[in-house]
Amino acid sequence: MPDSQLIEIEKLKSPKGTFLLGHLPQFNTYNKHQVLERWVEECGELFKIHFVGKEFVVSANPDFNNKMLRLRPESFKRFSKIDEILKEMGVDGVFNAEGDKWKRHRKPTAEALSVKNVNTFYPIIFDKTKSILEKFKNYSQQKTVVDVQKEFMAFTIDITTEIAFGHKLDTINNKSNSFQKHLEVIFPMINERVTAPIPIWRYFKRGKDKTLDNSLKSIEKVIYAFIDDAKKRIAENPKLKEQPSNFLEALLVENNEVNFTDKEIYGNVFTMLLAGEDTTSNSLSWIMFYLAQHPEIVIKVREEARTLYSGDIPNDYKYIDGLKYANAVTQEAMRLKPTTPQLYLESNEDVIINNLCIPKGTSIILQNKVAQTQDHHFSNPDSFIPERWLAGGCPMHENHAPNVIRAFGGGARYCPGMHLAKTEMIVLISTLCKHFDFKLEVKPETIRERFEFTMYPENLKVTFVPVVSE
Ligand code: HEM
Repeated sequence: MPDSQLIEIEKLKSPKGTFLLGHLPQFNTYNKHQVLERWVEECGELFKIHFVGKEFVVSANPDFNNKMLRLRPESFKRFSKIDEILKEMGVDGVFNAEGDKWKRHRKPTAEALSVKNVNTFYPIIFDKTKSILEKFKNYSQQKTVVDVQKEFMAFTIDITTEIAFGHKLDTINNKSNSFQKHLEVIFPMINERVTAPIPIWRYFKRGKDKTLDNSLKSIEKVIYAFIDDAKKRIAENPKLKEQPSNFLEALLVENNEVNFTDKEIYGNVFTMLLAGEDTTSNSLSWIMFYLAQHPEIVIKVREEARTLYSGDIPNDYKYIDGLKYANAVTQEAMRLKPTTPQLYLESNEDVIINNLCIPKGTSIILQNKVAQTQDHHFSNPDSFIPERWLAGGCPMHENHAPNVIRAFGGGARYCPGMHLAKTEMIVLISTLCKHFDFKLEVKPETIRERFEFTMYPENLKVTFVPVVSE
């Protein structure tokens, strides 16, 4: 390609900022994702920003973003700061590993979360769905206004903890557990530290840094005790080598081949909790945000559930494939409200993508959400229309670009928990629609996007109205 066609980063546009601090003061709000979206409106799909001299490229171009995601692990990695912060917290797992080390971590993680294993874990999902259904039945009898985000969080916490290391919690029924309280301290602090311009905690420990250290120690103690127990169980019961009953056992069995240290096993179990809880529960909350405003869609999910399975809950994994409309509902909610609206990458080498010269060490923010609601990618892009996800389902298909959806990431590092997450969401949504209508108890415009560790609907309050069974 002639050099004259190449674009240097310094030639990219930039939103208005201050000379010394750059764009930091504007970015340093709690809803960073919305600041980025505003800048995309102001500067277009590709621009640069700087925080006190440190430069970042921001891309909202789906083609550009897909290419970068696919060039991992060789040409791109996650922001090195993510690894730095997680390692400092003692976490060394698949999310922050890079290069060959990442390949070593990825294989057993992906296998443990494979379709075959999600099938094995299905009884856990079934039990927890039953448990939360009973709770919602009580709420509906008492006409309780439900903070669904909190309830869905309890649902995914109980499932993820049991699948990750066989720890049976009952957060759904408010059985208090200090384990979860510690995680609630840790997760937001990871986000805060990854996006902090200055690592204050390394020079001076504030109250919240001390609380974090304390929570990390407690979690470590619990997980290491589980590692010891699982080792003993496997030694006593060789059958578990063929059919491990949770992720931890699967890692220990894999250990013969992959040879993880206990610290790496701890890192991966922790990563599973970190990656699997908020993402899934917040996606469920966004689904509820739309269902509570679209009773006609609830009826369609219900019809599908009544046609497909007879009991309260799909009692076998085999039903999941058939729940196509419930699946379309989850996909549509994730298109409009992805819980991870942006991803952070860094180049490992000099690369040219779509004429842009990206030198080694460039930090790039992939803004994926904007493209998911653009009218050249989707007809009627701001409307909640699950039918667009059904093959041959509607005229929406003339303008439908699923390849721009990056809610689960992309390339070799796409989310390995996607299948598990979809199964949890489809089962719960189908079950709830079979039993209830949903009434939004607040005005939709008061429900705001809030980004902490992931993006969730703030102030979502719903009542559950029982439907008469046919
Ligand atoms: C709706 C729910 C979920 C969403 C939206 C989601 C989203 C994502 C995204 C965007 C990434 C980054 C992908 C990339 O860099 O290309 C990711 C990575 C990851 N997710 Fe998920 N996730 C969800 C559920 C889960 C669950 C249930 C688990 C496991 C229990 C899980 C485990 C992981 C792991 C281990 C990674 C790191 C993969 C790697 O670096 O190779 N996720 N997820």
